[in-house]
Amino acid sequence: MAEARVEASRIMQRCDALARHSELAGGLTRVFLSPEGRAASEAVLGWMREAGMQASLDAMGNAVGRYEGERTGLPCLMLGSHLDTVRDAGKYDGMLGVISAIECVDALNKQKKKLPFAIEVVGFGDEEGVRFGTTLLGSRAIAGTLAREVLETRDAGGTSIADALRAFGLDPKLLDEAKRNRGDVLAYAELHIEQGPVLEAEGLPVGVVTAINGFSRLRVSLRGEAGHAGTVPMALRRDALAAAAECIVMVERVVKNVPELVGTVGRIEAKPGAINVIPGEAQFTVDLRAPLDPLRQEALAKVKSEIARIAAERRVEARIESLQDFGSSACAPWLMRQLERAVEARGVRMRRLPSGAGHDGMAIKAIADIAMLFVRCKGGVSHNPAESITEEDAAIGAAVLFDFIHEFKPLSA
Ligand code: GLV
Ligand code: MN
Ligand code: MN
Repeated sequence: MAEARVEASRIMQRCDALARHSELAGGLTRVFLSPEGRAASEAVLGWMREAGMQASLDAMGNAVGRYEGERTGLPCLMLGSHLDTVRDAGKYDGMLGVISAIECVDALNKQKKKLPFAIEVVGFGDEEGVRFGTTLLGSRAIAGTLAREVLETRDAGGTSIADALRAFGLDPKLLDEAKRNRGDVLAYAELHIEQGPVLEAEGLPVGVVTAINGFSRLRVSLRGEAGHAGTVPMALRRDALAAAAECIVMVERVVKNVPELVGTVGRIEAKPGAINVIPGEAQFTVDLRAPLDPLRQEALAKVKSEIARIAAERRVEARIESLQDFGSSACAPWLMRQLERAVEARGVRMRRLPSGAGHDGMAIKAIADIAMLFVRCKGGVSHNPAESITEEDAAIGAAVLFDFIHEFKPLSA
């Protein structure tokens, strides 16, 4: 085992430092292509350069650092995670993976160690999909699977991704420059907080991910009729918000008794939004996830048909848009074995577990095999400002990642 001089205290400090780049005073919200996103990326690019990498933003706003191998231009082992956050987020989801990877490269650089492959660390610009409602924009651009039409997707204020890229100083016409080819990337490995309770329950600091659950996302718009809250009799109403409420409870009912299937309505809006007006319009999102694709697809079909039934019964019009579908993404056994060796070398009992959350590897899988290392988080809490990890676990996670990188053997070797 190589001696990893990864500085866990610095990893924690840098997570704190990035959390200060936020649009939310007193909390953390940082969406794709925002001024706060720019500031966080600049900080990350600076740390990459200090760690001996050449670093710059790519055409999609991903922060990319490259540490050359024994010769320049070798294919790379890609590491990373995302720099955007959900609203009122914790400070480790995404950022821990980027900062830990930089710390590993810094440790190699301090030892003047070059490997028979290059290392690239990517701070993906968008994994959460908060601003544009569609996720994995950064990693899909790198994988070359982001259709150009997606750049016309608009945020709530009407700004398209293409316009936001231009305002960020990037040229949407150059999207293809972010793309990597199979063969340029030997493998992709991501360290991430678990976002679940398994490792904590078993007293383990880290675990190796087997697969990332698939997801389907919908936007549902219901149109009824606005009217006077005091005069329209109940039987004559076409209340879009009451119909949405029934749909929300229906989503819960569809998933509730099926193990491993989960469903969430995370956002709802009603118009016109006044205490004395029957809501004429309502719009909400649906997020369905499962480890097995047929399970998710079956639930998706059921949710869609039930929305149509509820809308018909309540005499409201329903429009269902599919925002995104991603199949479940298996981690590569050959990479899992290498990660597992690195876990065991640190004297930690090896635990395999699936990921209920989505990750950039789902997109990168189109060009390279993927692996993930989970780090225990307190109470399994995430997507919440209470998200927390210990410095000791950050140290073990980064040390395992360092050993994995140091001992990494490509599949062809
Ligand atoms: C990202 O964190 C997701 O799983 O939604
Ligand atoms: Mn997240
Ligand atoms: Mn994440």
